[in-house]
Amino acid sequence: MPEFVKKLLGNNQKWVEEIRRTDPTYFSRLGETHQPIVLWIGCSDARVPANQITGTSPGEVFVHRNIANMVVHSDMNMLSVLSYAVEVLKIRHIVVCGHYSCGGINAAMTNQSFGVIDNWLRHIKDVYRAHQDQLEAIDDAEKRARLLVELNVKEQVYNLCKTSIVQSSWSRGDFPYIHGWVYDVHDGILKDLDVTFNSNEALSSLYRFKD
Ligand code: CO
Repeated sequence: MPEFVKKLLGNNQKWVEEIRRTDPTYFSRLGETHQPIVLWIGCSDARVPANQITGTSPGEVFVHRNIANMVVHSDMNMLSVLSYAVEVLKIRHIVVCGHYSCGGINAAMTNQSFGVIDNWLRHIKDVYRAHQDQLEAIDDAEKRARLLVELNVKEQVYNLCKTSIVQSSWSRGDFPYIHGWVYDVHDGILKDLDVTFNSNEALSSLYRFKD
């Protein structure tokens, strides 16, 4: 087995031993229930580990990650996670978390073809197109990319609000609150983008289903 992979398994053994030593009933407690409070929709980027950057432990955050933290309404994976989180786990908060220096966002801003992933990046190009004037008013490429990261998070928050899963839950007077955050890989700081929703009221009538 390659050294690095061996190291991962060794780390796991040490981690288990350490927890068993300090909290002998930890695993039996954790094994009994699954009641996370938050659904995290983040980027697959290895520098943005949901639990670590929010100081949460195993069991607290239900996690879905993909390239550039997208909420694509025909994505069965995302819909299944969302449905289970909202309807079964009854999670109270959904966080869409983007991050600066996102490879997916940067790739979508170029004209280069990257293969099959182009089809995924198309969704980001659609976000760009919706905000093209605002983005192209910025000369600095880095600043433009940072703005697209933020605009993309906001669009994905709106995409969540538009799903029948979230609208139905809100119509019943239930959770979730939906939040948009951005993480800076350069300083570790999470910023709230102030796009929190918890009712159908804010939805444009075009997307709103009758109660
Ligand atoms: Co990313």
